[in-house]
Amino acid sequence: MKVANLLVAFALMALASSFATAYDPSPLQDFCVGMNDPNSAVFVNGKFCKNPSLVTPDDFFYSGLNVPGNTSNQLRAHITVVYEDVWPGLNTLGVSLSRIDYEPNGGLNPPHYHPRASEILLVLKGTLYAGFVTSNPDHRLFAKTLKAGDLFAFPVGLLHFQMNVGKTPAVAIAAFSSQNPGLNTVANAVFGAVPSINPEVLTTAFHLDRKLVEDLQTQTWTDPSV
Ligand SMILES: *[C@@H]1O[C@H](CO)[C@@H](O)[C@H](O)[C@H]1NC(C)=O
Repeated sequence: MKVANLLVAFALMALASSFATAYDPSPLQDFCVGMNDPNSAVFVNGKFCKNPSLVTPDDFFYSGLNVPGNTSNQLRAHITVVYEDVWPGLNTLGVSLSRIDYEPNGGLNPPHYHPRASEILLVLKGTLYAGFVTSNPDHRLFAKTLKAGDLFAFPVGLLHFQMNVGKTPAVAIAAFSSQNPGLNTVANAVFGAVPSINPEVLTTAFHLDRKLVEDLQTQTWTDPSV
């Protein structure tokens, strides 16, 4: 092989390995603004690790999801989230879950999305109407009626919802592909933003008259996960 050929081969391999290893990590939080002064910087993408010699079985144990959430709210549903912030043993594992309780006849986990995770929903009891909608331009609805033992998958970042269409309470477990999937309830973000979005934005975007927009902005928007 000529030296020139060797150099070309080497350059190609160097390029290939830089494509294979150079990538941006997925953020584990909504944002992480850079700081030039390390003394004022407190957040990293993830958490600091506990000394492994101090780790115990309890770090990998969590208890309490047998307790129903309090559904006395306007949605008549409640999400009990078990993310890394309440279960630090999940740090770096890329998984978390939540329990969702729905009152009979319409208890609703309203349209929302998880910016950092796909989700599998397992229905433990009751009957849920569940679905997700794809991105622009098609906005295809994929929806099913689910009963105990059924699973439904929600792809990362897509708008989705579940409603109890049965006459008995419903319970589901949602499993996520992130230790911190994030939860963005769309109506709350749109009409309950703090401070309020300029009503003209919402009047045009939602084909609503200004009075209705201003009324919606004064309402309380229940966070089903609180
Ligand atoms: C459930 O929430 C409602 C409304 O916030 C509250 O009044 C009630 O005391 C709560 N019930 C329990 C059992 O915590």
